[in-house]
Amino acid sequence: MSVAFSEENLKEFNRLLTRYPDREAVILPSLHLVQQQYGNVSNEGIEYVAGLLGLSAARIEGVATFYTMYNRKPVGKYHVQICRNIACSLLGAEHLIDHVSGKLGVKPGQTTPDGRFTLLPVVCLGACDHGPAMMIDFELHGDLTVDGIDAILARYL
Ligand code: FES
Repeated sequence: MSVAFSEENLKEFNRLLTRYPDREAVILPSLHLVQQQYGNVSNEGIEYVAGLLGLSAARIEGVATFYTMYNRKPVGKYHVQICRNIACSLLGAEHLIDHVSGKLGVKPGQTTPDGRFTLLPVVCLGACDHGPAMMIDFELHGDLTVDGIDAILARYL
């Protein structure tokens, strides 16, 4: 699939170029625009951003793969990320991942057949003092329990 910014995103990209001191600094927001428009950052998206910024695709890919907030593959309508880093693990994250996995009927890393949910264990959501933590799209949830997760997911099911 070829990637190209919509008129609105191209306008925003050009605004970003004037806002940041150099093109390197525009990599992150450009990747956000790609993900916002396409739902993920594909190889084509990386090449597109590289071309716009005049940087190598390898440089853009290095950034896109470093941050877990960029989806390198298509994800479901709702992107469920559960932290399995040390603080959350000690507070039972693995059990919660298993619970959500069973509830959605998918293994970690998979998307439900109806395309609604992708379950992805991640390393730290920046809410270590409120673990176990989960993020659905951009909504962060902390101090999770099985009952709490069930109540949250019920809003999306
Ligand atoms: S360790 Fe889970 S949010 Fe940081």
